[in-house]
Amino acid sequence: MNAKSVVRLGIVGVGNMGSAHANAILERKVPRLELAAVCDRDPARLARFAAIPGFASHLEMLASGLVDAVLIATPHYDHTGIGLDVLAAGKHLLVEKPLSVHKADCERLIRAWQKHPEPRPVFAEMFNQRTDPRYAKLRQLIQTGELGAIRRINWIITDWFRTEAYYASGGWRATWAGEGGGVLMNQCPHQLDLWQWLFGLPAKVRAHCQFGRFHAIEVEDACTAYLEYADGATGVFITTTGESPGTNRLEVAGERGRIVIEGPGPLTWIRNQVPMSEFSQTTKAAFDRPEAWKVEVPCPGANGQHLEILRNFADAILAGAPLIGPAPEGVHGVELGNAMLMSALWDRTVALPLDAAAVAVEYQRLIASSRHKPEPAASAIASDFAASHRR
Ligand SMILES: NC(=O)c1ccc[n+]([C@@H]2O[C@H](COP(=O)([O-])OP(=O)(O)OC[C@H]3O[C@@H](n4cnc5c(N)ncnc54)[C@H](O)[C@@H]3O)[C@@H](O)[C@H]2O)c1
Repeated sequence: MNAKSVVRLGIVGVGNMGSAHANAILERKVPRLELAAVCDRDPARLARFAAIPGFASHLEMLASGLVDAVLIATPHYDHTGIGLDVLAAGKHLLVEKPLSVHKADCERLIRAWQKHPEPRPVFAEMFNQRTDPRYAKLRQLIQTGELGAIRRINWIITDWFRTEAYYASGGWRATWAGEGGGVLMNQCPHQLDLWQWLFGLPAKVRAHCQFGRFHAIEVEDACTAYLEYADGATGVFITTTGESPGTNRLEVAGERGRIVIEGPGPLTWIRNQVPMSEFSQTTKAAFDRPEAWKVEVPCPGANGQHLEILRNFADAILAGAPLIGPAPEGVHGVELGNAMLMSALWDRTVALPLDAAAVAVEYQRLIASSRHKPEPAASAIASDFAASHRR
């Protein structure tokens, strides 16, 4: 293939996730991406890709002329600085979730991309759960008005169970200075993004987090949040890494009924024949309710997860395909997670939009209090991760 039919990709950070992406490309699962370079601070990690040009620094990789595009799969704080360098070098950029740890850092990246002279590089985020066709269908039912105005949302996402061994693997994980948070920062960015993608951001958030409730960690491993929208719609978001078997249940009550997506099951919709408020205001009966039908909603789609995002990134660069996860949208899920954490730390309701500078100051305080020693440590969980992400 020549340079016009293939994108030469460099991956920064070939730990658990970065090496899964690298191996998928080497196995030709993403035909329009070529693994042209890898970069990692840890020589042992680079050694696993000895046949590919390797760099200890992303700046050297950018200067090498070997790459057209970069995928960042490092610990979270580095997404911002490395991302700024990639954009300054005019390379296309795909960032692992979360875009950055807090809103101000996300805005720095987005501003740099917006200020880039045309044509701007493709700037995407690894929102692989957006490829689940059930969420795309739910979004369509909301945006077309089929479900009617949303009145209540509940998401119980407690099946992110993680063991003490996972956290004890050390390094940057589960520390304020290394990871920037716990379950809201590492596991939930997918659901926080889907929440904002489906329902938009609320006007206010009141949350309670528990820090090291189930594990010997300094960051949150449990959170329950109440969200309220300007039109009175409410939401409850419950998450933890300490519960097994746990639940993944998204329940949405709209004027036209209730939709549930639970576990790997189908999207189920109990559809009101008449919108519930209209029925309430027009019926003469005291205990009647709208007639409701169970609707089978087909959800066509590939559910291609990480591979679909990688293919879409290449297609966006080579053929202008619309991105599944445009990175500038990544700030919204980060802001939602920041709002939950700040509400818990400040012990009060917080209004959105958040004051990004105030959140950044709070992060500086958290980082100063952190027990993390900022030296990257080889992760003992790499083989477990590879096994659970086999594709
Ligand atoms: N989309 C998903 O499903 C998914 C799943 C897991 C992890 N992730 C994300 O992937 C990213 C990496 O997570 P992980 O679990 O692979 O972590 P990891 O610790 O296994 O790997 C990180 C790698 O980055 C390297 N590194 C650190 N700083 C660097 C720097 N400045 N320059 C070059 N290399 C550097 C480390 O040496 C390590 O090899 C995180 O953003 C995480 O949230 C996404």
